[in-house]
Amino acid sequence: MRVNLREFEALAREQVPPMAWAYYAGGANDEVSLRDADRAWERFRLRPRVLVDVSAVDTRTTVLGTPLAVPVLTAPCALNQLAHPDGERAVARAAAAAGVIQVLSTASSVGLEEVAAEVAAPRWFQLYCYRDRAITTDLVHRAEAAGYGAICLTVDLPVLGRREREVRVSFSAPAGITMRNLERYASDVMTAQAGASALAHYVANQWDASLTWDVVPWLRSITRLPVVLKGILTREDAALAVEHGAQAVIVSTHGGRQLDRVVASADALAEVVAAVDGRADVLVDGGIRRGTDVLVALALGARAVLIGRPYLWGLAVDGEAGVAQVLQLLRDEVALAMALSGRTTVAAIDRGVLAP
Ligand code: FNR
Ligand code: LAC
Repeated sequence: MRVNLREFEALAREQVPPMAWAYYAGGANDEVSLRDADRAWERFRLRPRVLVDVSAVDTRTTVLGTPLAVPVLTAPCALNQLAHPDGERAVARAAAAAGVIQVLSTASSVGLEEVAAEVAAPRWFQLYCYRDRAITTDLVHRAEAAGYGAICLTVDLPVLGRREREVRVSFSAPAGITMRNLERYASDVMTAQAGASALAHYVANQWDASLTWDVVPWLRSITRLPVVLKGILTREDAALAVEHGAQAVIVSTHGGRQLDRVVASADALAEVVAAVDGRADVLVDGGIRRGTDVLVALALGARAVLIGRPYLWGLAVDGEAGVAQVLQLLRDEVALAMALSGRTTVAAIDRGVLAP
């Protein structure tokens, strides 16, 4: 029996080899931010309204103009095949069936074209910027050609955070699992390193640690797709994101995997929403495990949330069906939280839902 998202974690752990688990579960350094992520949502208290007709609750919304059945997207997570051989294909099918947007990682284990061919549905491409701008440009153009609806540039990973669990197991991907999108540019995609994370080595060699705000107008110049910046946590950067032409921002701590002791997404959200001031869509991720977390996020001004590890757990437990169950449980919890707080539409979820 799995009655909520968290229950998938222990079941997934039994399915996933220890090295892959170290990669999935780990956070940076002391994992303070990893632990904080869930707790920060739990600190909010709700102000329900009663005697509202909640016989019909509508969880639909839009993000960047695209309809969503529920205000949830699947976060870009590298190497989904570490959880299940169907990997990103299974996530694509489950997300499409649930009416949520899949954000595919640059570091996916199924190629972006194959994922797009799996099922027709709106999806976004998450971009890591290569030192070689020709590779970056090609990735963006491939995503555009394959029908992706937005480019989501991750800005909180100029260098990889030190995930000690990864270091301890000398994390590398097992034979047959690789970053498929990159194969055509280099044969050596991720080589095992004794006493270190192969990913850290790869990132240090390939991804551009020198990025500055100029990258946003540059990206906009090479694509007609909207640009989303993932990993914004301050009012200063939120304002700069909008000024440089980002159409959406994602408040995120990268699942507690980058700067440890960073402010929790739940606590940074209000300041980002205020700074953006309606000029872009604001999304949020990190530690979203309950429908009530989604309710809090929307009340603070987010348009939608992303979930990362929970769908990886679902994938590990039962492939596409497991991801589908995770999404269904969360959808049902969102509808229940809305009904019990007396909000029948997403638009009705305002700041008044939150106790001061
Ligand atoms: C990630 N995340 C991530 N983010 C990104 O922009 N590109 C990526 O390739 C990855 N890869 C990745 C792998 C794994 C195993 C995890 C757990 C996370 C971060 C991810 O998109 C998201 O921000 C967090 O996972 C959200 O937090 P929760 O839902 O996992 O708590
Ligand atoms: C990670 C990178 C790949 O968090 O985003 O592992």
